[in-house]
Amino acid sequence: MKLLLSEKEVQKKVEALAGKISQDFLGKEILLVGVLKGAFIFMADLARQMTIPVKMDFVRLASYGTGIRSSGKVKFTKDLETPLRGQNVIVVEDIIDTGITLKHLSQCLKARRPRSLKVVALLDKPGRREVNFHADYVGFRIDDHFVVGYGLDCAEEYRNLRGIYVLK
Ligand code: PRP
Repeated sequence: MKLLLSEKEVQKKVEALAGKISQDFLGKEILLVGVLKGAFIFMADLARQMTIPVKMDFVRLASYGTGIRSSGKVKFTKDLETPLRGQNVIVVEDIIDTGITLKHLSQCLKARRPRSLKVVALLDKPGRREVNFHADYVGFRIDDHFVVGYGLDCAEEYRNLRGIYVLK
């Protein structure tokens, strides 16, 4: 395992992202929507760095095989508990790879008529994109490495690491 982003680098970036989002939504309230499981640590840190009021909710999507890639539709294994109409929604993701998850999730959530919908992703692998998707806020653009830590797993291991590592 090789360190890609240290705990300090990650925390600095999370602080900067929270600052930017808080500024962009000054005077408003936002609903953070975390995509389980990977985003839970990023979301916990991001939420605590925000300087405007935030509410939080989570979705979990069916994984490969029963999910979006095979069905072309978003299948929730856990849907939101909050109605989105009139809300300023920020979807919180740990990583964008092919873009399929976020493209479909964004379309699905937009259909619920939020006031606004933006996406923040800590990591982005633009080289792996299969569909056209751009996040509104991106922490780090990285090469096509298999990364773990800070919420990201390999067979459910390593999510609790404080930094982000390339698994060899
Ligand atoms: C990862 C990540 C995104 C998705 C990105 O989740 O958290 O949700 O894959 O991939 P894509 O851009 O190719 O659609 P994963 O399915 O590994 O589940 P997890 O968050 O529970 O680990």
